[in-house]
Amino acid sequence: MNRLKVLALIGGISKDSLNKRLYHELVKHNTANIVLQTCELSTLPFYSQDIENNPPESVVHFQGLVKEADAVLFITPEYNRSFPGVLKNAIDWGSRPLQNNLWRRKPAAIIGASLGKIGTFGAQQHLKNVCCFLDMNLMHQPEFYFDASASMDATGVVAGSIEFIQMYLSKFAEFCEGL
Ligand SMILES: Cc1cc2nc3c(=O)[nH]c(=O)nc-3n(C[C@H](O)[C@H](O)[C@H](O)COP(=O)(O)O)c2cc1C
Repeated sequence: MNRLKVLALIGGISKDSLNKRLYHELVKHNTANIVLQTCELSTLPFYSQDIENNPPESVVHFQGLVKEADAVLFITPEYNRSFPGVLKNAIDWGSRPLQNNLWRRKPAAIIGASLGKIGTFGAQQHLKNVCCFLDMNLMHQPEFYFDASASMDATGVVAGSIEFIQMYLSKFAEFCEGL
């Protein structure tokens, strides 16, 4: 069976982003039937209806990646109890023009890393709302709230969390294949 192509959309854009680190840990420990890839969301301009029908190359490239992906994995930081604007901007670009909502029925899952026990719960709740509105096929269980202060050190994800990552990715593959 072909491996599923999963596009990871990471809401952290700083070079030392915790969520970028989490993505690299997923790639490192991926034993599921999926291929992970990502793209840089900070290159997208702010969405504007003025350029919707003639968007710049960065947007065309991004929309192409979303179209080609079998599924998307949102990896979101939590900013002020919500998900970052850079991620919302990317989602908005994928949703327009309205008749070309690229998210419709797209298999998706949400995870995220922060420094504390809340582990991006607030950000994920807000993001779920948006995913539902856009008619994504969202995996609801298992949930993935990552407290990087407890589960990651300078060398990467600690034992125990590696197994969790592997279990999560294989559940996501199963979810996508079962649709
Ligand atoms: C503007 C801003 C708002 C934040 N708000 C929250 C928050 O609501 N909850 C939380 O747990 N952490 C919050 N944090 C801390 C982030 O969890 C932490 O900076 C984390 O490293 C962000 O992920 P990133 O490194 O991938 O960008 C906030 C950080 C910033 C810069």
